[in-house]
Amino acid sequence: MTPETIPTSPSSPAANADHPANSLFDLTGKTAIVTGTSRGLGQGFARALAKAGADLVLTSRTRTSLAAFELEIQALGRRALSLELDVRYQHSIDKMVADAESAFGHLDILVNNAGCIGSVTSVAGYAGLTPYGASRGGIRQLTMSLADDWGKHGVTVNCLAPGWFRTEQNKVLYEDREWVEYLRERIPLRRAGEPNDLDGAIVFLASESSRYMTGQTILVDGGISTGAVRALGKPRSSPEV
Ligand SMILES: NC(=O)c1ccc[n+]([C@@H]2O[C@H](COP(=O)([O-])OP(=O)(O)OC[C@H]3O[C@@H](n4cnc5c(N)ncnc54)[C@H](OP(=O)(O)O)[C@@H]3O)[C@@H](O)[C@H]2O)c1
Repeated sequence: MTPETIPTSPSSPAANADHPANSLFDLTGKTAIVTGTSRGLGQGFARALAKAGADLVLTSRTRTSLAAFELEIQALGRRALSLELDVRYQHSIDKMVADAESAFGHLDILVNNAGCIGSVTSVAGYAGLTPYGASRGGIRQLTMSLADDWGKHGVTVNCLAPGWFRTEQNKVLYEDREWVEYLRERIPLRRAGEPNDLDGAIVFLASESSRYMTGQTILVDGGISTGAVRALGKPRSSPEV
């Protein structure tokens, strides 16, 4: 994940710390681009931001696949614009951003969800996933470096790193009951994630609540990054002093 690097606008109204608590998470008047919203976690991110008040730019390599989701966002009372984007091509990125800017006049939040961006593998090793893990570690480093580069412009850059969430990308794994049980045993909260488990973190990172936070990776993973390997023997009821 989704990660995800999330620059937010420096001009946001809540530079004032005296706001009522709920306005710390209010995105009314903001425009958010969420890339990769034809399915999966991207739809969850866009839905959460829309519920918090943001207007949305939705993207896919095939614009028609966004039609139903665009209506869903509009039904929440927000503006939604569907644009084609293939993140492998600079010209495609440039065109999407130009079209979004001309439609909304300002862009405040970017969730780089499409493709492979931040995950629990950004911070933990997984046997058999070496190239994947190395690329995810790179996302964490990219987040820190961009935060350094762009802080002076008032732009924050953070990475939301999900643990294991069942989506189209990995559904074949979840058809293997043995593997699902193996995974469940290693997650302290004893289940894979549901897309809406990420709602609070994405709204936090996109809102004024996180205005003094940049370059960080937030793990939302049911605790699997703790290592979650059991020692042999009977657990003690209280630690020895
Ligand atoms: N699911 C998990 O457990 C998990 C865990 C950690 C991190 N993540 C990360 O979270 C993000 C979303 O994962 P997901 O499981 O929701 O994936 P997904 O179900 O496969 O959805 C991926 C989305 O990205 C779009 N996309 C794919 N290639 C693209 C490209 N070249 N250019 C533009 N858009 C592209 C797809 O749209 P079109 O095909 O319509 O273009 C789709 O909307 C990814 O970065 C993933 O690595 C997922």
